[in-house]
Amino acid sequence: MTLDELELECKNCRKCALCEGRTNLVFGTGKKDADIMLIGEGPGENEDLQGQPFVGRSGQLLDKFLASVDLSRDKNVYIANMVKCRPPHNRDPKPEEQDICIEWLRKQFKIIRPKIIVCVGRISAQRLISPDFRVTKEHGTFVDKNGVLMMGTYHPAAILRNPNNKELAFQDWLALREKIDELGIEI
Ligand code: URA
Repeated sequence: MTLDELELECKNCRKCALCEGRTNLVFGTGKKDADIMLIGEGPGENEDLQGQPFVGRSGQLLDKFLASVDLSRDKNVYIANMVKCRPPHNRDPKPEEQDICIEWLRKQFKIIRPKIIVCVGRISAQRLISPDFRVTKEHGTFVDKNGVLMMGTYHPAAILRNPNNKELAFQDWLALREKIDELGIEI
């Protein structure tokens, strides 16, 4: 199955209640065989309206971090979220919603086969790296999970709330770039 076929299937998903509130399902965007994949939390208002991940203020900051290390959703990364439909009032996606939606994400991983996965924020880091992942303590650290390198970093929305963490987050994106070069990944 191709990523486009999977997206068509996913667009009809009604496996959890989040589908009731969606304007658009936000499947993911970027290079279809990217070596680097970014996983956020879930769509916000702008993402729900446009059907694309990270297109609001957080997304603009994320794109700046990416650009600062020669990465972009148009060229060399793929971006998706833990859940594909907007949680009401931007609340955190519930564990049971993530349990259901992670099946789509697993299928995306299988097709894209990334070498590095960056968890953008606590929600995806706790789900994909470790349930007790603490962004403040463990950000920027790479761990190998079944041959895929995983790293968690600050969510851009958290940086917009507390700009003091911007420099720390930038260091994580630099560490990502160093890891890409160290592994000889072509971008
Ligand atoms: N925050 C996320 O985690 N994902 C998005 O797509 C937008 C904002």
